Amino acid sequence: MARFSGRTAVVTGGAQGIGAAIARKFYAEGARLAVMDINAGGAQALAAELDATGQNAIGLGCNVAERSEVTAAFGAIAAKFGTVDILVNNAGITRDAIFHKMTEKQWDDVIAVNGKGLFNCTQEAWLIMKAQKYGRICNISSTNASGEAGQANYAFTKAGAVAFTKSLAKEGGRHNIRVNCVRPGMIDTDMMRAVPADLLRDMVERTALRRFGLTAEVADAVAYLCSDEASWVTGEELLVCGGFMYR
Ligand SMILES: NC(=O)c1ccc[n+]([C@@H]2O[C@H](COP(=O)([O-])OP(=O)(O)OC[C@H]3O[C@@H](n4cnc5c(N)ncnc54)[C@H](O)[C@@H]3O)[C@@H](O)[C@H]2O)c1
Repeated sequence: MARFSGRTAVVTGGAQGIGAAIARKFYAEGARLAVMDINAGGAQALAAELDATGQNAIGLGCNVAERSEVTAAFGAIAAKFGTVDILVNNAGITRDAIFHKMTEKQWDDVIAVNGKGLFNCTQEAWLIMKAQKYGRICNISSTNASGEAGQANYAFTKAGAVAFTKSLAKEGGRHNIRVNCVRPGMIDTDMMRAVPADLLRDMVERTALRRFGLTAEVADAVAYLCSDEASWVTGEELLVCGGFMYR
């Protein structure tokens, strides 16, 4: 039997990049799938590509920073599939600037999506998971949770995602909700296109495996943490970064 057969998986920011790879992975392994993204057309296109009938995959336009939109999206998912078993909090943005030039808007935008978005989506899913006594949550943090120049706002939220993960793991255990996070580094997506070329070269140099990671390599790690193979794993952070941290 497929690993996620009978389960409903929700992936935020699933229209492209890492989120799309995660969405494809869960669907391929038997889950019913909801793709949530501020890019409604992208989310719907991916869902339609995977399941043209719309029976087992849906795409929903949703800004994770807006609670009313998140509440409506989870209401629609629960109405269609009956459950929310797996949540992957993947939606995230960067608004990089060296700190003395960082604007209040750059700070607020990143906190809204990466911080408030995490709260909004997790709380909506949590209420369903707690009632059904089953939940698997995976938060997408970053290697840069350890801090990076030009990313004080982003690193703040990604370090927060690690602490959020560990806090909710402690609360969730008694409800059979496991909460883990993945910290990817250097994955070949649009997000990396915003990084200057010389910095990217430097990052590859500092990566043990000397290349960019693939979105599917992150999806494999997320699927593991949400699967029964990780039944004794909660509150953990898994680095998926080709050895970036240790060089
Ligand atoms: N690419 C990397 O190297 C890397 C490394 C570490 C962590 N990450 C994290 O992985 C996640 C995915 O990154 P990616 O590289 O695939 O980025 P991406 O920019 O390719 O994709 C991000 C997706 O999130 C969606 N999104 C943005 N704001 C949203 C909002 N307010 N509400 C709903 N959806 C929204 C976008 O429309 C897009 O589909 C992010 O959380 C990012 O911080 C990426």
